[in-house]
Amino acid sequence: MVYLKQQRPEKVTVPAVRATKERGERLVCLTAYDYPTARIVDEAGTDIILVGDSLGNVVLGYDTTVPVTLDEMVMHTRAVRRGVQRALLVADMPYGSYHTGADDAVRAALRLIKEGGAEAVKLEGGRARAEIIRRLVAEEIPVMGHIGLTPQSVNKLGGFRLQGKTAEAARALVEDARALEAAGAFSIVLEVVPREIAKLVTAAIQIPTIGIGAGEHCDAQILVIHDLLGISFSPTRPRFVRQYADLRAAMTDAINAYAEDVRIGAYPGTQESYPLPADAAAELQAELTKAGDAEVEKQ
Ligand code: KIV
Repeated sequence: MVYLKQQRPEKVTVPAVRATKERGERLVCLTAYDYPTARIVDEAGTDIILVGDSLGNVVLGYDTTVPVTLDEMVMHTRAVRRGVQRALLVADMPYGSYHTGADDAVRAALRLIKEGGAEAVKLEGGRARAEIIRRLVAEEIPVMGHIGLTPQSVNKLGGFRLQGKTAEAARALVEDARALEAAGAFSIVLEVVPREIAKLVTAAIQIPTIGIGAGEHCDAQILVIHDLLGISFSPTRPRFVRQYADLRAAMTDAINAYAEDVRIGAYPGTQESYPLPADAAAELQAELTKAGDAEVEKQ
């Protein structure tokens, strides 16, 4: 079993992520939300690990990312931090944590950095967020942008749909990307936009684009780990998801096998329980024998 497949042994940093674009290196990015998954994802050589607010959907069972709180993000980021050594650790700023002004945004981002141990934060939105990004960067907080389908805007968008479908919308995405780059973002997630638009955006900026449902022209790719492993309960599977494993089936098989063993008495076996040390067993036996003899004498 190959489970340690590190491509680049050195620690991934924000400047290193920026530099990959010039070299044409494709970064591998994934989400993680807990310690064991973070360890596995990191030890497999993933370059960027995102504690996405998608945890609202895949871990907490919400329909959208809207209810996810800053406390929840901090808690999950702390768990992931303990499992990550090499990858760059990025945490999502949840809905509401940067919408009330730059000071609140700095406060929320600092919690993710200081309490959660993230090395950068991600927030959603285009030009309208440029000022906030500028302020975060001025406070030494690296920022990853996120444009295209921005799930925190689900109520405004009316659903999770392909974005940038018109020439006008495409031009707006390019302008948004340029504005985020000018504000100091070190990379930009492009979610669910036509591949041609992703190509235009990727060519228009000097920082890496990280695609999810945005085609092959992006500098990097990201997927939600639950989608990749087949443990997502999303009612529909978006066309961009490639499921690399069926862990739901593997987990169900394992649980069924355990249940069967318990029911027929095959678990636990002798090797899976603890014997009493011989001297204690002998002492106990002697006591039991003595008590038995006394009982007989009484009768
Ligand atoms: O929340 C998340 O997991 C994300 C990725 C899908 C990019 O934003």
